[in-house]
Amino acid sequence: MGRQERSIAFVPGSRRADSVNVALAELSAAIATDLGCVATVVHLDDFAMPMYDGDCEDEVGVPDAAARLHDVLVASEIVVLVSPEYNGAPTPLLKNAIDWVTRVSKRPLENKTVGLMSATPGSGGGTSGLKVLSVIMASLRVNHEVPPLGVGKARSRIADNDPVLRDEIERFVSSLLVASAGNVPA
Ligand SMILES: Cc1cc2nc3c(=O)[nH]c(=O)nc-3n(C[C@H](O)[C@H](O)[C@H](O)COP(=O)(O)O)c2cc1C
Repeated sequence: MGRQERSIAFVPGSRRADSVNVALAELSAAIATDLGCVATVVHLDDFAMPMYDGDCEDEVGVPDAAARLHDVLVASEIVVLVSPEYNGAPTPLLKNAIDWVTRVSKRPLENKTVGLMSATPGSGGGTSGLKVLSVIMASLRVNHEVPPLGVGKARSRIADNDPVLRDEIERFVSSLLVASAGNVPA
């Protein structure tokens, strides 16, 4: 019998063309691939949704994009959210996607291993936004035991292919794989 593949989906919380968080997600996916994972970057641009409100849901239901995103996330063994920090919190784009996905099923990522990353052009590394994301993940009852990875000065570090950053990402992904311990979806 063949070895089961370890799948890991990186979800940037930005859809900007020049997003440093997309760049971090792509670098991380390449490193995860080198570690033997089936790694994907899930672009929220491919899952356009209106801003959540209950009247909208009552009138037209849950958007197809939310159902598709829900299924993509559920199907991945590990999910990694890679969000910019906007005023100390994750982006509305990412929070809105999370909110809609929880209207497809209440706790879709329950017990799944979820990693949290943030890239900032400045030195802060999105520490405050990562704390907020941790609170959200706790409410969804995911396994978020692996400490978040905030990457300050991310634009230059990624452009320079900084070996210290590559090592940090490799250790982060390896920790996620251990935390998930082969919890491969059926
Ligand atoms: C509304 C807004 C709020 C921001 N707040 C923060 C912040 O709290 N901390 C921080 O380090 N950077 C902050 N920034 C700067 C972002 O880190 C920067 O724009 C980053 O490039 C956004 O991520 P992206 O490149 O992946 O789109 C903010 C940017 C915007 C547009």
